[in-house]
Formats: sequence, structure tokens, C-alpha cells
Amino acid sequence: MADHSDKNLFLHDVLTGLAQSLPEIPSKYLYDELGSMLFEAICTTPEYYVTRADLEILDSYLPQIADCIGPQAHIIEFGSGAGIKTSRLLDSLQQPTAYSPIEISAAALEASAVHLQHQFPQLRIEPVQADYTQPIANADLDICRDCRTRVVYFPGSTIGNFTLEQAQHFLLRIREIISRFLPEVNGGLLIGIDLFKPLDVLIPAYADAVGVTAAFNKNLLARINRELGADFDIAQWEHQARFNAEQQRIEMHLCSTSRQTVDVAGHKFEFDRGASIHTENSHKYTLAGFSEMAAKAGLKLQQHWTDSNGWFATCYFVPE
Ligand code: AVJ
Repeated sequence: MADHSDKNLFLHDVLTGLAQSLPEIPSKYLYDELGSMLFEAICTTPEYYVTRADLEILDSYLPQIADCIGPQAHIIEFGSGAGIKTSRLLDSLQQPTAYSPIEISAAALEASAVHLQHQFPQLRIEPVQADYTQPIANADLDICRDCRTRVVYFPGSTIGNFTLEQAQHFLLRIREIISRFLPEVNGGLLIGIDLFKPLDVLIPAYADAVGVTAAFNKNLLARINRELGADFDIAQWEHQARFNAEQQRIEMHLCSTSRQTVDVAGHKFEFDRGASIHTENSHKYTLAGFSEMAAKAGLKLQQHWTDSNGWFATCYFVPE
């Protein structure tokens, strides 16, 4: 990791997470360099419909989406990653003015900014290296007072990682960002949400046959071994995707296949056979349920598009 304080925070989060009666580790730690590559690989498995549905919607409805956003937009993207979807969005917009990618990985941020600047020489690009689950300084985003619309772009159903409470809070922050220069500058939120669907589609999407998702999940243990000097025996942990009906979400777990003791930087943790570490949430929504939550944050649904299966929705919200 980048420096000492990052490492201390990681260690702190792992130690407190493992000490809980139901052990859990924040999902953001799944996404180190290898984890991010494994996630990209998940997106190409036949079972993981999310990325394909998101792209299908862009393919089918980009002109309509561009119409909704209008000319001279400032696009603010949370978690820009590789920037493939962004490049297609920007390409369809009428004279996009500025682009602020917000991304925790400096390498990913730099790579996508260079690539997009090459593709869109006129575009003002101001990368912001930050953890977007934390507040972003206004100054970092105030690069465009002459644009007509400020749009936050949050594709891929990443909001599903948040608990309902976190998602509610996040929507409030987004509303503040896009409303900042009202009424001179309009606001918009273009967001992907993953919809409820039959469990025989949902579960395999998070437990693919080849085991890419399993490798993605287990990489968290390898990372903890590598960066925090722990001794997880990865062969004694099994990947699990569970549907939590009460919370309306898929949960990824790592399940202990034996009774074992693990040492993390001198701290011992005991796990019974069958005990698990909860590593990620992926909430599934209905359009009505998500709109209700957005309404509480002062956002109203202006238009939405779904893929041909009706599994995923791309929504455009505006401040009320
Ligand atoms: C990156 C949060 C959208 O929850 O679908 C995929 C992460 N984890 N397979 C999701 C993930 C396991 C993914 N998001």
C-alpha cells in the first residue's frame, strides 16, 4: 500500500472486523491491483450479467441518455476505473465541457485521464484522487462554472456495495454536489442499479463455475497475508455467495472449512468449521424502492432505461 497510515488503517479495519461476533472486512479492501484485475475478469464470465446489461443499455439508449443530460455538461464520475463506459458516454454528449474522475487508485486515475484526454482534446479533465466513500472537497470539483449541467455518473451498480443507510447518506451527498450551482447550472445523477431477479440467476452471478469470483474473494486473505503479515491458510477457506432475503442483498462470505486459528500481526483469531467472514454486500433494488430512497434525498426520477431482460436499470435523477 501507498504509505504507513494506509497500512495502519487497513490493519485497524481488519482487526476490528475480525473481532466482531459476525466477522466482516470492508469490501473496499477487495480491490487492490490483483483484486481489481480479478473484478474485470468477473465482468467477462457468462454468469455475471451486470456489466453486459449496463453496456446493453448504453448501446440501445445512449442518444436518449445524452438528450436527458443536454449540452455542455460537467461529468463527475465516482470510481472511474478503466473508463470504458465513460468514453462512450462522453462520445455521445453534445459538447461535453469538463470531466472529474474520482478514483482511489492513482494508477487507474492517471491511465484513464491520459486515455480520455487523447480521445477528447477539448475536454477539461481534472482527476481527483480520493476515496469517494468520504466527503470530497468542493474546490476539487469546482472546475466548471460555465457548464450547463453538473452530472454525477455512478455506473455498474456500485451503490449496491453500500448498506441502505450508507446509500441513503451517499445520495444526499450527491444531491448537494449536483445542486451546488443551481439555478444557473442544472443538476443530474446518472446511476446504474441492479434489480431483483430470480435466485437461479443471481446466485451463479456471484459464484461463477470457473471460480473467478472465488479467487477474487480469496485474494483478500492473500492480501492480508502479504501486507499485514498474517498466516491465513487459503486452502482452508471456501467462497460463498448467499442471498440475504431480509436485507435484500447478495453477500459474499469466506467460510472456514476446519476449526483453525489465524495470526494477524500477533493477534490470534479462532474460527470454527463453518464460521464465516463477510466480505461484500451487493444490494438488489426495485425501481420503486430505489426511487423512494432517492426521494428522501431530494432527487426525483426523470427517466430510466432497462436491459432486455429487465435485470438492470440506468436511471436519471434530478434535484426536486
Ligand atoms: C463492483 C460492487 C458492482 O456487487 O456486483 C461482483 C462487485 N463482487 N462480484 C457487484 C462484485 C463479486 C460488484 N460491484
